[in-house]
Amino acid sequence: MAEGHTTPPVAEMSSVSLTRNSAEAVQRAHFAKNVPIRSIICRPDGGAGLAGQKVTVGGWVKTGREQGKGTFAFLELNDGSCAANLQVIVDASVAPLGQLVHTGTCVAVEGKLKEPPEGTRQKIELRVEKFIEVGTVDPAKYPLPKTRLTLEFLRDFVHLRPRTNTISAVARIRNALAYATHTFFQQHGFLYVHTPIITTSDCEGAGEMFQVTTLINDLEKMEKQLKKNPPPSEGEIEAAKLVVEEKGEAVAQLKLAEVSKEEISAAVALLTKAKEVLSKLEEKAKLKPGLPQKDGKIDYSQDFFARQAFLTVSGQLQVETYACGVGSVYTFGPTFRAEHSHTSRHLAEFWMVEIEIPFSDLEDDMNCAEAHVKFMCQWLLDNCLDDMEFMAKNFDKTVIDRLRTVTSTPFERITYTDAVALLEKVEDKKFENKVQWGIDLASEHERYLTEVLFKKPVIVYNYPKGIKPFYMRVNDDDKTVAAMDVLLPKVGELIGGSEREERLEAIQNRIFEMGLSPEPYEWYLDLRRYGTVRHAGYGMGFDRMILFATGIDNIRDVIPFPRYPGRADL
Ligand code: 4AD
Ligand code: MG
Repeated sequence: MAEGHTTPPVAEMSSVSLTRNSAEAVQRAHFAKNVPIRSIICRPDGGAGLAGQKVTVGGWVKTGREQGKGTFAFLELNDGSCAANLQVIVDASVAPLGQLVHTGTCVAVEGKLKEPPEGTRQKIELRVEKFIEVGTVDPAKYPLPKTRLTLEFLRDFVHLRPRTNTISAVARIRNALAYATHTFFQQHGFLYVHTPIITTSDCEGAGEMFQVTTLINDLEKMEKQLKKNPPPSEGEIEAAKLVVEEKGEAVAQLKLAEVSKEEISAAVALLTKAKEVLSKLEEKAKLKPGLPQKDGKIDYSQDFFARQAFLTVSGQLQVETYACGVGSVYTFGPTFRAEHSHTSRHLAEFWMVEIEIPFSDLEDDMNCAEAHVKFMCQWLLDNCLDDMEFMAKNFDKTVIDRLRTVTSTPFERITYTDAVALLEKVEDKKFENKVQWGIDLASEHERYLTEVLFKKPVIVYNYPKGIKPFYMRVNDDDKTVAAMDVLLPKVGELIGGSEREERLEAIQNRIFEMGLSPEPYEWYLDLRRYGTVRHAGYGMGFDRMILFATGIDNIRDVIPFPRYPGRADL
């Protein structure tokens, strides 16, 4: 192995392990024995300058074939560090070729890099000198053969699909955009706040929350216990009643016979015992598996959190508490919605970047959202061009141009009222959902605005208050709220945000108007009761950003472990 064992300086680590930039010299993976294939072939010279270097590589065979009547084999090796494969040549004297050539086999080898013969596509290949290890595959059973597989098919193999070119490219793009998110907000002085996954307040007030409860576990435990130790039968209870009767009669007769006190006490003790046995049996007979009840409803005071709790649909309400204390903040984590949407843009568990800025209004909010989206797109152009080229070639020819358009064009900003007026005039398309002022724009309307009318990102703002959540600031017209949605070609709504209602009475009215129970929001209202501040924020659907950036059609293929109705495997 050509490389030393010392820990690399931090600056070097960040360029390699985090952004996975391409042009550095060959170097070993940190804390591992192999050289990432990316650092060999993703150089401007395609690796040619590394000829003569000794390296250890490991990866999974994409294609392998024995040649020269079984005297050597060519392996196309991919380790997921980049889209391209390294060509590896192994002689039969070095390793059992029959084991190595099957697609999906894991191979670790040591060898010398050399320039391939003239006329071949690759600029460098590896001649194996030492065989290190192999993880074999039975080709008759391996579920991901060499043929091109659909993304839908791969969804049944989420544990193996990271080995495919597409899913690994998406994973690298997703990683880059997560890093870009932190970079953007850290560079702009935002504080990263971890908001809770479990909550008692429904941020969007839409009742789409997954409940978190241990009452069902308790119920199942009780059912199990009853199975092991079943309740007494009627016969057992009758028998116990008879014993009580007998013992009672015995006491009465002894009393009549005027026997000694001691004898009577002994008989009374036996009667008491029999009564105890009966009452225990009767108690046990009453045990019926069921959820605890109070006043005809489930009694959540007996639940784990002593009240109803849910998985969060948004960290906004909690992150606002920090914005109203420490300045601009962001949170970035999974959120959960129990919507039964089977669309290509909805997940039951998705990632959201949410920001909150004190002393800001809707315009500041839109400016931040636009800068944020532009930064993400530019980041991919600067750091992930090889993966973007792979996506352009295989999924969406326009994907790189789309990123360029976003970075270079100011977003269109239009009020909801104007957007509806434009959509009402549309004649070349018949919408499934009729357009009129007051409707929630459907995906078809959003996409028409951004893809057809403006052909660039569009920010629609000042929505009717009736279709937006309670926390959005009511405008002076009392009909609209200071809300904004960022719409992108291909995905429609990417970002939803607003100015927050900072006036106590106004927000109390909204909670009342919307028929929400005020109790879970009392702490949120305290932010308005004590030292209220004008502030604004938004949430970006991170997975939708990946959809836009990759050109992939279905959101289930851009998240490592998709959760949707009927599916939460792994
Ligand atoms: O518009 P939404 O519902 O806004 C909020 O949750 C606010 N509390 C955010 C805030 O102001 N802090 O959701 C924000 C974004 C949407 O624009 C969309 O991109 C994405 O989250 N989103 C989903 N992504 C995937 N699957 C789903 N089921 C989604 N629902 C919303
Ligand atoms: Mg929304």
